[in-house]
Amino acid sequence: MVFDLEISEKGNLSIGGADATEIVQEYGTPLYVIDENKVRENYRRVYEAFSKHYDDFQIFYACKANTNLSVLRILEQEGSGIDAVSPGEIYTSLLTGFDPQRILYTGNNVKDEEMEFAIESGVRLNVDSVSQLKRLAKIVHPKGFKISFRINPMVGAGHHEHCITGGEMSKFGIMEKEAVEVYKLAKELGFDPVGIHTHIGSGILDPEPFKLAVTTLMDIAGDIAKNAGVKFEFIDFGGGLGIPYTPEEDILDIETFAKEITDLFKEKLAQYNLGKPTMCIEPGRYIVGDASYLLAKVNTVKQSYRKFVGVDAGFNTLLRPAMYGSYHHIVVANKPQAEAVEEIDVAGNVCESGDLFARDRPLPEIEEGDIIAIMNAGAYAFSMASQYNSRPRTAEVLVKDGETDLIREKESIADVLNKQILPARLLK
Ligand code: LLP
Repeated sequence: MVFDLEISEKGNLSIGGADATEIVQEYGTPLYVIDENKVRENYRRVYEAFSKHYDDFQIFYACKANTNLSVLRILEQEGSGIDAVSPGEIYTSLLTGFDPQRILYTGNNVKDEEMEFAIESGVRLNVDSVSQLKRLAKIVHPKGFKISFRINPMVGAGHHEHCITGGEMSKFGIMEKEAVEVYKLAKELGFDPVGIHTHIGSGILDPEPFKLAVTTLMDIAGDIAKNAGVKFEFIDFGGGLGIPYTPEEDILDIETFAKEITDLFKEKLAQYNLGKPTMCIEPGRYIVGDASYLLAKVNTVKQSYRKFVGVDAGFNTLLRPAMYGSYHHIVVANKPQAEAVEEIDVAGNVCESGDLFARDRPLPEIEEGDIIAIMNAGAYAFSMASQYNSRPRTAEVLVKDGETDLIREKESIADVLNKQILPARLLK
């Protein structure tokens, strides 16, 4: 796909109607800039695509992609629910106004204390293992307590090995072949199992594995309904909907995708007599991925054995290129339409050779003082940031119709030291 760029009156990159170079003058670099309208548009596009084919439809936004309070408020206003994976994500979602019954807690390797927190919060629990089920039975009075299970349907997909969450190498979920027995066990323990869930991986642009997972999960649900006497209130196919990061990748055709998935879903509901449960999906990246840029300033242009453009952000700020070898498209914010003239490396400021945002990337002539804009930095960007190299984490700005708001202050060096304790004996 060709990335559409918004251009300001001055010929610079514009984000949500605001000139990127002016945003930088006001807030500095490195900086995440989130376009509110894009988040809303993405949410509405996916919601409408599915709900027009099946009206009892719910999105659980996978907030691990971006847990900024403002992003969560926006999605709460849009009517989203939440896929939460930790007490922190539950807490943050409750704080931003989500109804606990619209929060599905899908932990893995969950501690008893974490389950207690989830129960006290009143959120729904999606159970990942038999161990968790048995421990839950000791924590809560199971009689009538509603739960669901995450199933590994032996189908997996994703943009990188680390992001495939179905199949025999995956640590997630209940084995497909064990599913009926586990639902029976849940009922024997007194629980009311009302839901079934899967999530096969992340960054999926090919609809085929997702469709296969839907078919498989529905067959499993049919089996459970028949043999364990379960009546499903909801069926959740997880997230994973991909976005194009490279200009060569095509966009996921959400209209066709939604129609195919809902057709399969309805066909299987009828085949197994499953009634009319709520259909759920859990997109994270699709909703926030392309809604944010990471802006960084070029401070060094260095001709070594290769040519490096050095910027004031690193993999502490955006980990995906270093962790998964992910491509993130880069434009020069103060000359977004300039032609590429050479292939260069864009390097961060972390003391590791793997700290590169791009290798051999065709880019225009870049000078010190230029601002680079790293695209598709809305998902798994700030949320995976660290303080490595004792660098404070960056600020975040929200833009709507040309107006900017600071939604997270830049940390200070004191914040990096926060919570450390120097024992008195070392002060001698
Ligand atoms: N539901 C569950 C249970 C998940 O574990 C995930 C993602 C999602 C939904 C949302 O997936 P999405 O729609 O965003 O693909 N850090 C990686 C992605 C890890 C995803 C983990 N789970 C990356 O930067 O690509």
